[in-house]
Amino acid sequence: MKAIIARAFAPLDQLEYGDWPEPEAKGDAVVIEAEAIGVNYPDGLLVQGLYQMKPPTPFVPGMEVAGRVVAIGPKVTGLKVGDRVAALTVVSGYAEKVAVSETMTMKLPDAMSTADACALVCGYGTSHHALKQRGQLRPGETLCVLGAAGATGTAAVQIGKALGAKVIAVASSPEKQRIALEAGADIAIGYDNLKEALKEITGGKGVDVGFDPVGGDAFEVLARAMGWNGRLLVIGFASGAIPKLAVNLTLVKGFSVVGVYWGDFTVKEPQAYAENMRELVAWYLAGKVKPVIEGIYPLADAANILKRVLGRGASGKLILKP
Ligand SMILES: NC(=O)c1ccc[n+]([C@@H]2O[C@H](COP(=O)([O-])OP(=O)(O)OC[C@H]3O[C@@H](n4cnc5c(N)ncnc54)[C@H](OP(=O)(O)O)[C@@H]3O)[C@@H](O)[C@H]2O)c1
Repeated sequence: MKAIIARAFAPLDQLEYGDWPEPEAKGDAVVIEAEAIGVNYPDGLLVQGLYQMKPPTPFVPGMEVAGRVVAIGPKVTGLKVGDRVAALTVVSGYAEKVAVSETMTMKLPDAMSTADACALVCGYGTSHHALKQRGQLRPGETLCVLGAAGATGTAAVQIGKALGAKVIAVASSPEKQRIALEAGADIAIGYDNLKEALKEITGGKGVDVGFDPVGGDAFEVLARAMGWNGRLLVIGFASGAIPKLAVNLTLVKGFSVVGVYWGDFTVKEPQAYAENMRELVAWYLAGKVKPVIEGIYPLADAANILKRVLGRGASGKLILKP
């Protein structure tokens, strides 16, 4: 079968589109024939050896797929050949077929497209876990989302609204601010004079929950705009810079900095993860969340698509199709 292969940790240009052995359905695994494969920022870090997890090389990257079950292992109990499913694969997703444990798979309702299903896994899964378990976002609170037109950002905007918050979106261009507003943000602003703008919008009270997938200078600015009892969520560092914070700021302003690692959450708290996914699917069916799919591209173009994502040139969710 065809797949995107990382022969070694190397620049994105060296990703190869070529032949890779077909996966087998062993034990509790099912084999999924992919119709949609989600592109995630961390995929681009992983293949360059810049991610916290490093699989043995060569490997096929890709953490989420949606499609049909084409084979089941002898220990599979809840799925059959032909079922429409989405799965969290961690790696191996950029391929025509992938084998994944049944426990990491969810059946799809007829009304959900495979592209939307991919978006719901990592992008929405991360933002939901961040705002619900880590940020404890409550109705009526103010949520500020940096990188609000990105994959986790658009998800955070919609989940923030679903949880009853007032959502302030921050994005770098008028076009990205428009995307965040269309996703449901109450207000969208740029990074210039961010601290002053957030002070004004919150009536001097400061932000209750900050969502930061960007890092760099924007993190400190958001830290300085946090309100009393606020929770500043560390999601990622798309700007390439891991910020440092003078911790006296948390003391003086009475806010917390809270780390979010969704991948480990799915492993350490599988029941909470499954419950989160059920809630997301219910919100999707009720029309409360609707992924912003930027485009669907051929699997063979994965390297160029990843370059665009890591180069700040994408918005919403990008999908690959074998
Ligand atoms: N903690 C977790 O569990 C978890 C899970 C998934 C992803 N992540 C991490 O979260 C981060 C964002 O992921 P994502 O899927 O939301 O990515 P994304 O769709 O590419 O969005 C990232 C946003 O960051 C902003 N940005 C600022 N400077 C940038 C730069 N130099 N290059 C690229 N983007 C830049 C961009 O918005 P503006 O142009 O508007 O600034 C962009 O829309 C990544 O670091 C990823 O590894 C963490």
